[in-house]
Amino acid sequence: MATYLVIEMPIQLELASLRETMLFGQSLAIGLRPGDVLTFSGPIGSGKTTIVRALALALTGYDEASSPSFTLWQQYQGKINVNHLDLYRIEDERELPELGLFDAFSDDCVTLIEWPECAPSLIPQAAIRIQISGAGDAPRLLEIG
Ligand SMILES: Nc1ncnc2c1ncn2[C@@H]1O[C@H](COP(=O)(O)OP(=O)(O)OP(=O)(O)O)[C@@H](O)[C@H]1O
Ligand SMILES: [Mg+2]
Repeated sequence: MATYLVIEMPIQLELASLRETMLFGQSLAIGLRPGDVLTFSGPIGSGKTTIVRALALALTGYDEASSPSFTLWQQYQGKINVNHLDLYRIEDERELPELGLFDAFSDDCVTLIEWPECAPSLIPQAAIRIQISGAGDAPRLLEIG
């Protein structure tokens, strides 16, 4: 007889070190398909970019480590194309059409978004939401879904 694992939502996990956070980001790549959207919420320095970078590296082979810390929309080409949005500096959602950010969502890309709360109208309903807490050297607590 088949055994089924029932996963209760939200999923909660603790990442005790930078290494664990990077491994988590890398492992997310296994389950993603083009068209998926993930959002990352949490205070400054909580690890949003750390996870996005590890994930983008796993999906595309592209290591963004040397690029500037703030870019509104970064694209990586790879086996699966990745769009990385950082919405921190959006002050008014009326800016969105002229910024062209709606074009970041397409069926042939994975889209990863930091600071989704700065432009809620941009975020598709089907997005997987990841909430991070903790900063500095403290462990990070994650809640997914
Ligand atoms: N367990 C951990 N997980 C993630 N980052 C950690 C951890 N421990 C220490 N750090 C450090 O915390 C910082 C996280 O920075 P990161 O740029 O990923 O945060 P962020 O959430 O993207 O911030 P911002 O809101 O400014 O974009 C890094 O300097 C990293 O080395
Ligand atoms: Mg960041």
